[in-house]
Amino acid sequence: MADRLFRSDRAGGDRPLPKIDATVAHIARVYDYWLGGKDNFAADRAVGDKVLEIHPETVLSVRANRAFLARSVRHLAMTEGIRQFLDIGTGLPSANNTHEVAQAAVPEARVMYVDNDPIVLAHARALLTSCPSGATAYLDADIRDTDTILAGARQVLDLSRPVAVMLVAVLHMLRDDEDPRGIVSRLMSAVPPGSFLVISHLASDVQPETMAEMGRRLNESMTQQFTMRSRAEVTSFFDGLRLLDPGVVLTHEWRQDSPQDSANPGVLWAGVARKP
Ligand SMILES: C[S@@+](CC[C@H](N)C(=O)[O-])C[C@H]1O[C@@H](n2cnc3c(N)ncnc32)[C@H](O)[C@@H]1O
Repeated sequence: MADRLFRSDRAGGDRPLPKIDATVAHIARVYDYWLGGKDNFAADRAVGDKVLEIHPETVLSVRANRAFLARSVRHLAMTEGIRQFLDIGTGLPSANNTHEVAQAAVPEARVMYVDNDPIVLAHARALLTSCPSGATAYLDADIRDTDTILAGARQVLDLSRPVAVMLVAVLHMLRDDEDPRGIVSRLMSAVPPGSFLVISHLASDVQPETMAEMGRRLNESMTQQFTMRSRAEVTSFFDGLRLLDPGVVLTHEWRQDSPQDSANPGVLWAGVARKP
């Protein structure tokens, strides 16, 4: 664990240079390509383009997803009093990373990032730029390994106090037989009442034929596999929790706060719920 956890508030722990295979597409880099970033290779752009051929609005959808992430973090920090965030499936650093949004609202916010992609690890330094009164950390781990994630989180966050568990655009990377519901349930069991769960998830029941073709194109080109889910299936991840208004809606519909939000329609379901 010690060699996989990197903290803004501790010296040392230089990250080993991870082995990166540029010939195989990875979703973190494909997503970076769709967002207009530069941390991607030809293999990632080829897969990204295959999706854009059938759904050019993917560019708008990834922007809508980032905007949902920022609005949900801002709401939790400013209105719900949340000071701790566990952001699993972090992605490559981009504009408005979770700690930047949270600490702009509350400088003492603490954020632990988790991702299993070596290229995200290679770029993790950009995520370890905390306000001095807060903290950020990065754990190189797989979402399926909840014991490791929770052990790492206990070193950085106080799990006796509320935590926002952020699963933004990551649960669709788990097949049903990998038990995404069990993973959500184990994470939410480890945090106290007053904690929150934030989810966004690719939809199977919005433009269903296009989404099915998008899934086929992604799955034939990548070792990582996608499972789109319906609104009812995504809503069931929140079982036992209290959904905030407006419930599970498309990313751009969740508590819009600028005209730009409706200009970027998304094809991911999104919701935020409180643990009672
Ligand atoms: C589409 S990006 C989402 C990034 C960010 N959460 C956002 O919404 O902007 C999905 C991220 O999940 C990560 N991921 C995929 N499968 C994972 C797993 N099994 N464990 C941890 N992270 C995973 C990928 O490496 C990628 O960085």
